[in-house]
Amino acid sequence: MQPPLIVGNWKMYKTASEGREFIRDFLKLHTSQSPVDVVIAPPFTALQALHDALQSSSISLAAQNVFCEHEGAFTGEISPPMLRDLGCTSVILGHSERRQHFGEDNDLINRKVHSALSHQLRPILCVGELLEEREAGQTNAVIKKQLLGGLKDVSAEHMVQVTIAYEPVWAIGTGKAATVDQATEVHSLIGAILESTWETKREAIRILYGGSVNPDNADILFQSPQINGALVGKACLNPDSFVKIIGSAHRSLN
Ligand code: 13P
Repeated sequence: MQPPLIVGNWKMYKTASEGREFIRDFLKLHTSQSPVDVVIAPPFTALQALHDALQSSSISLAAQNVFCEHEGAFTGEISPPMLRDLGCTSVILGHSERRQHFGEDNDLINRKVHSALSHQLRPILCVGELLEEREAGQTNAVIKKQLLGGLKDVSAEHMVQVTIAYEPVWAIGTGKAATVDQATEVHSLIGAILESTWETKREAIRILYGGSVNPDNADILFQSPQINGALVGKACLNPDSFVKIIGSAHRSLN
């Protein structure tokens, strides 16, 4: 069984200086002995500062996006080797905000997944349904399509490098997290799809929940054996609440 994984997605918050300040405060509160895997995904512009600030810690660094080519005339894009060079070990892909505001579809996300994997960056693939889709009873179909599309032609060998984050779009930034039952149901579906399509053991892949996770609901969510950690937005911007969520994941092991 892998340890729980808590990923903090800073989205478009914090300059490099603010990031440095956050890490200074966070490391004072975070117990380095924690068995929980912790990853922070700051904006690109703060990666170098965090790489330096996290040198002697066990916290890993992720990017929030990557382009699918390794170099070339792609103005404004960032390649997997550039992220590796800044110490990133994983990358968030397919976030609903990229799908919604930047027109990313399953096909592009799939190319990014392959590119990341071929450069030893672990993809954290986000999937999740809109409120209308849930209300229309389409949740399972949407999740299946996003999973199979995003992970098309990924080998079984590479699958164990992948983390899935279930982020129902209606729960992101709304303060209305999915209930533990709602999340568990979708996580079970994701696990079943991974097992049947790639013959990957469920325990080999962590499935995170994301969407309004906070120190008040984390304990309950992590009680579900299907929920192997969290992808946290707003609550990860404050060192105190981020540490509390990591503490909930730690307690869930007892
Ligand atoms: P919130 O935790 O702010 O709802 O954001 C979740 C999210 O989108 C993390 O990627």
